[in-house]
Amino acid sequence: MSGVHVSTTVNGDATEYVCHPGETLLDVLRNRLGLTGAKEGCGTGDCGACSVTVDGSLVCSCLVLGAEMEGREVNTVEGLADGGTLHPLQDKFIEHAALQCGICTPGFLVAAKALLDRNPDPTEQEIRYALAGNLCRCTGYDKIVHAVDAAAKEVRKQQKAAKKASGKKRR
Ligand code: FES
Ligand code: FES
Repeated sequence: MSGVHVSTTVNGDATEYVCHPGETLLDVLRNRLGLTGAKEGCGTGDCGACSVTVDGSLVCSCLVLGAEMEGREVNTVEGLADGGTLHPLQDKFIEHAALQCGICTPGFLVAAKALLDRNPDPTEQEIRYALAGNLCRCTGYDKIVHAVDAAAKEVRKQQKAAKKASGKKRR
């Protein structure tokens, strides 16, 4: 079987790979690109452990093909931190002890980031709804929801500070 050559962008970097036509994006990320943050929990779209974004939309990487990523923008949990600086979501997950075994955590972080990108001021209900596709078998959901709420506050604070700084520069 011949391979499919794909040119795409992963976490902001131009990336090329050759994959089998039926290979999932999850397998491409983990086995070909060495990005093992996305996890295989179920392989059937039920647990969200494999969550990534494609062109800004949240997807289960176990349900889409690597061959479909030509020209797309893929973001994974590895792209969340800014160099050595953790994203507020990562900080708050640690602060609120919102993880135990950690298998579900990359998926929750990616899903929560997708939420905060489109709505940095979500209600608790909106957070729970946005994370409804992610399952955790050990931590329980309250700590995760509280961590996302705290991260949202931090993101808004950072956005406000950045706006203020750019206003000062323009003067
Ligand atoms: S591994 Fe993809 S949804 Fe569970
Ligand atoms: S921390 Fe173990 S599955 Fe969520």
